[in-house]
Amino acid sequence: MTIEVRPFVAADTIPTWEVFHAAVHQTAIADYSPEQVAAWAPDSVDVALWRQRRLRSWTFVAVVDGEVVGFSDVTQTGLLDMLFVHPDYGRQGVARVLVTRVIDQARALGLEELHTLASRTARPAFEAFGFVVDRSNDPNWIRGHNLPNYTMHLSL
Ligand SMILES: CC(C)(COP(=O)(O)OP(=O)(O)OC[C@H]1O[C@@H](n2cnc3c(N)ncnc32)[C@H](O)[C@@H]1OP(=O)(O)O)[C@@H](O)C(=O)NCCC(=O)NCCS
Repeated sequence: MTIEVRPFVAADTIPTWEVFHAAVHQTAIADYSPEQVAAWAPDSVDVALWRQRRLRSWTFVAVVDGEVVGFSDVTQTGLLDMLFVHPDYGRQGVARVLVTRVIDQARALGLEELHTLASRTARPAFEAFGFVVDRSNDPNWIRGHNLPNYTMHLSL
């Protein structure tokens, strides 16, 4: 499988939201309840706001055979906010390729550290990339539901 990573463009708006929705509802459901995933990834999206948020960070998409299969990002302050891979392409190294690109970008920005709020589902992947847990966030309220997660960081 050849994984291409490139910067997000406006045409990636819906495909990235679809990856996000599928990753939460089909993969993260292993670690959170149906009510929790529904609060995390509602079935509708404000498309303009979603695009604006992706464009506000350095967002990178992973593409396989012309299809967006994952995305990640980093802000000017070193927050890796998003890391989502479509369940059909899970456990094949897509997140690793994306995070490698994010780390390159962070270094190019002169950052010394990346930080993230990792879901229970993503924690093992972040640990595989060298991130360490700073603390557990419980409760962590999203739309009235508690979605515990972990504050993690990676020294660059
Ligand atoms: C977390 C997620 C992005 C990982 O994507 P992925 O493409 O499957 O990850 P990779 O294949 O690149 O795996 C990266 C590393 O993490 C490990 N890993 C991934 N998922 C794992 C799991 N559930 N349990 C244990 N290890 C895991 C892999 O073994 C791999 O390590 P290795 O290369 O040393 O073998 C994906 O599962 C996902 O989208 N999850 C749901 C959404 C979510 O929780 N996103 C994070 C929000 S903070």
